[in-house]
Amino acid sequence: MCYVRFLTFSLSVAAALLTVARFLVPRPTTGLQEKRETTERDEQSEDQFDQFTTETTGVTGVVTRESAGAGSAGSAGAGQIGSSLSQKCDDLLGNWNTSQDFPVMLLSADTKGRFGNELFVTTTALIRAQLTNRPVMLNPQLLKAKKKRQILKLPCIHRALRLPMPHMCPGCTGNLTEIWDDRSDACNFGRGCFELLQSQKRFVDIDPGYHQNLTEWEKPPLSWRPLLATAFQVDMPLTGIALPGDKDLVVYYRSYNGAAIFDVRAWGATFLHSPPFSFFDFAWQQHQKSNAGGKLWVVSDPVMYEHPTLLRLCNELGAEIVRSTSEAGKDAWLADWVWLREAKHLAMSASTFSWWAAYLSDAKRIYYPFFPGMAALPWCDLMVVGDPRYLYYDIFTNASFNDGAVAKDHCLEYVRCRGVQCAMKKHRRAIANLYPELLALKNSKDETALRAVPP
Ligand SMILES: *[C@@H]1O[C@H](CO)[C@@H](O)[C@H](O)[C@H]1NC(C)=O
Ligand SMILES: *[C@@H]1O[C@H](CO)[C@@H](O)[C@H](O)[C@H]1NC(C)=O
Ligand SMILES: *[C@@H]1O[C@H](CO)[C@@H](O)[C@H](O)[C@H]1NC(C)=O
Ligand SMILES: *[C@@H]1O[C@H](CO)[C@@H](O)[C@H](O)[C@H]1NC(C)=O
Repeated sequence: MCYVRFLTFSLSVAAALLTVARFLVPRPTTGLQEKRETTERDEQSEDQFDQFTTETTGVTGVVTRESAGAGSAGSAGAGQIGSSLSQKCDDLLGNWNTSQDFPVMLLSADTKGRFGNELFVTTTALIRAQLTNRPVMLNPQLLKAKKKRQILKLPCIHRALRLPMPHMCPGCTGNLTEIWDDRSDACNFGRGCFELLQSQKRFVDIDPGYHQNLTEWEKPPLSWRPLLATAFQVDMPLTGIALPGDKDLVVYYRSYNGAAIFDVRAWGATFLHSPPFSFFDFAWQQHQKSNAGGKLWVVSDPVMYEHPTLLRLCNELGAEIVRSTSEAGKDAWLADWVWLREAKHLAMSASTFSWWAAYLSDAKRIYYPFFPGMAALPWCDLMVVGDPRYLYYDIFTNASFNDGAVAKDHCLEYVRCRGVQCAMKKHRRAIANLYPELLALKNSKDETALRAVPP
C-alpha cells in the first residue's frame, strides 16, 4: 500500500488550484520528495521540472579517466566496468582504424531533455556511425559541462572518450583521455586538442533534435538491441537493493503535469498527460492470469508519490511504491531505471525513461498504452514493431494489440485526426471519465478543455 503522509489532493477548488504548485515544490520533510532526474521533455510541452536542470548528477563513481585501461574499474558504485564488458565496449565503440582520417562520430547528447532523450540522441549517433562505418567518440566537453549529462553514468559510453590517434594532435601530450586536458602552448596554442580537431572538421555530429523516431534507425529496432544493450549497460548504483521478482509486474507512473488530465494547445491539439488507472488495471488483471502470487510495484518520481492515480494503484490494486532506490541518493534516478530494466513484466507510461528501460530489458511482457490523441512525445512513432514482447493497449476502446504495426496504425490515426469527429473532441468527456480521481479536482485547465466541447 502507498504510505500516505501528506494527502494534498482534495476535492476543494483551492486545493485543485494549488495542485500543480505542490507538485513543483519538493518537500524535504518526507526525505523522499526530492526530484529525480528522470524527466523527459518534448518540443511542445513545458517542462515543469526546468528548475532542476542545474542539478548535476556528478561523475564520482563513473569509470574514471584513470580507469580507461581494460578491466580497471572505478573505485566503487555506479559505473564499474568488468573486463568482459570493457572488451565488448571496445569492440563496439573503440574499433578505430588508425590509418583512416575520415570524420569521427561525436557523441554529444545534445538535447534539452534528460536521460531518455539523451539515449535517443546517442542512439541515433551510434547507429549512424555503424551504418557509415565510422568510429565514435564521446565529446570530451561533456565532462566539463556544468550540466552533467546522465549518459556519463554509462560505463561503455564514458569509455568512448579515448583518442587512439594522438598523432592527430601534434604537440599535445597525455595518453588516450588526458590529452583533452593539455592546455600547454605546444598544444594548439593553448586551445587544446579538441578545438584543433574540430577546426579540422574531424568530427561529425547528428542533426539537432529529439530523434524520438525509430524510422531513423533504418533497420528493425530489435536488430539494434544487442549493440544498444552493451553501449547502455549499467549496474545498479548501489548493491543490496532487492530487485523485482520474476512474477512481479512493475508499473512506471508518470504524469506530465501534476493532476491535470488534458493539455489543450492554442493550435487545437489536445494532449493527455498520463495513462488512466484503467490501463494499469488491465495490465494487472492480464498479468495475474499467468503469474499468480506476483506483486505489483510502482516506480515513480517522488514528486508523483501523492498523485491521485498513483494512490489508486496502491489503494485499489495493492501496489507498492519502490522506495528502496532512494537509498542511492543522487543516483536514485539510475537505480529506478535499472530496477525497471530488471522487471520481467512492465507497464509503461508514455515516457522515454520507461521506454528505454523496457526496450533494453529482458522482460517477457511489456504493456504499452496509447491515447486517442497526442501524448507529450511522439509516442506512436516509438512503438517497437516486430518485437513480440509488447502488448499495446488503446485506453479509449480498451482494445489490446499484439501486432505493433496494427497498434501503430490505430495510434497514428488518432494523432492525425483533424476536426470535430476526432475522439479527443467528440468523446472528450468520456475520456475525462476515465480519470474520475482527477476530474474530481476540477482543475481549471481540464474545466476549460471540457467546456470547449459539447456535452
Ligand atoms: C595514462 O598516463 C598516466 C600517467 O600520465 C598513467 O597513470 C595511466 O595509467 C595512463 N593510462 C593509460 C590508459 O595508459
Ligand atoms: C583502414 O583505412 C584505410 C584508409 O581508408 C583502408 O585502406 C584500410 O583498408 C582500412 N583497414 C581496415 C582494417 O579496415
Ligand atoms: C522519422 O524519420 C524518418 C526518416 O528519417 C523521416 O522520414 C520522418 O519524417 C520522421 N518522422 C517524424 C515524425 O519526424
Ligand atoms: C474501458 O474500460 C473502462 C474502465 O473499466 C470503462 O469505464 C470504459 O467504459 C471502457 N470503454 C469501453 C469503450 O468499453
